Amino acid sequence: MAWKFMGGKAALLTILLGGLAFATHGEPDRSLALAEYRRPAAIPFPDDNPYRAAKAELGRTLFFEPALSRDGDRTCATCHIPGQDWTDSQPRAPRSDGGFMEFRTPTLLNVAWTEEIYGWDGKFRRLETVARTPLTAPGNMNMPPEEMVRRLAADPNYVKAFAGAFPETAAGDGAVTAERIEQALATFQRLIVSGPAPFDRWVEGDPTAVGAAAKRGFDVFTGKANCAACHSGWNFTDGSFHDIGVATEGAVGRGRFFPGSTALRHAFKTPTLRNVARRPPYMHDGSITNLSAVIDLYDRGGIDRPSRSRDIRPLHLTAREKADLIAFLETLNDAGADGPAYRVIGPVAPRP
Ligand code: HEC
Ligand code: HEC
Repeated sequence: MAWKFMGGKAALLTILLGGLAFATHGEPDRSLALAEYRRPAAIPFPDDNPYRAAKAELGRTLFFEPALSRDGDRTCATCHIPGQDWTDSQPRAPRSDGGFMEFRTPTLLNVAWTEEIYGWDGKFRRLETVARTPLTAPGNMNMPPEEMVRRLAADPNYVKAFAGAFPETAAGDGAVTAERIEQALATFQRLIVSGPAPFDRWVEGDPTAVGAAAKRGFDVFTGKANCAACHSGWNFTDGSFHDIGVATEGAVGRGRFFPGSTALRHAFKTPTLRNVARRPPYMHDGSITNLSAVIDLYDRGGIDRPSRSRDIRPLHLTAREKADLIAFLETLNDAGADGPAYRVIGPVAPRP
């Protein structure tokens, strides 16, 4: 017990000293606020689907594999496009019949940190099982699981790759299964991590990494506008569901699964803000075309209705505060297409 206290004191002292070193030239001392946004050192993987390089490599191949769609015309990357921050720039995802799905394609950046509930309305329980829906949905890849397994098992290269990715099975002994396809896809997707951005360099202590407007924007984000109430932590999401007052013609969001709850009506998952300036349109339905329109929505307080979050209300931001917020959001962009498309950012670790 005692050594734990010592550890705590030592950590606090380090933070305070860091803070002192940081407060220069009349700038407000933001070191404690910034410490909330420090990037994690390792990607978390679940115990029942641990990281293995061969499994991630197989997952990458499957992510771009047209044979996983019945007509060979779609892959996961049809909508989650690596060069477009793993989304597709469309208000709502395209169906194979020319129509559109209910929701916009979300980015896959940093899905490893999503707490075991996925989708705009939380319809998916685990990353391992999300893939089943796009793979089998008639308007999407439209692939019956048995046919998918049959196709891959008929390809000796895949049989070999599955045996390498899941060495616990004897080679050729039914190495290809639908569950393993999902596990390999999930392992690959956990490697999709946004790269370091100017904001991260600021968090790490370089005061020149971002400009004065972005710094003021951070103060608005964490202060007057209280965006950080929901867009919290290094990935800028609390992983929870809120109604922020977006026009949702009939869309009930999380409330679909909790019809008795007022607070969950029109409530959608807080999205990450990593690379956000680069990937319009915005919101679950792609209804907002640019960042200034997003800020204007928050400034108005969205639609005032019983389900609207108590953290959403008219903000009365000045024109400069709005511009500063956007300057701040732009510092969350990584090197994008010029950087590696995905990377392992550190030693892989089991989920804490
Ligand atoms: C037609 C476009 C399209 C294709 C193809 C597609 N997706 Fe998606 N994806 C979406 C949309 C739209 C959603 C949001 C669904 C929802 O919230 O109900 C989504 C959601 C997800 C999510 C949840 C992300 C989160 O943050 O909650 C994951 C993971 C995912 N897709 C992975 C995949 C994988 C793996 C494949 C290939 C097997 C795939 N997707 C194929 C459009 C697509
Ligand atoms: C009450 C929680 C909450 C607060 C406070 C909040 N947001 Fe959000 N934010 C969300 C949710 C939930 C969504 C998705 C809503 C939807 O799709 O209908 C969202 C969406 C966004 C988006 C669109 C991202 C995308 O990929 O579509 C941006 C940008 C954004 N918020 C920025 C901000 C800024 C800037 C502030 C402060 C002015 C802020 N948010 C305050 C919860 C919140």
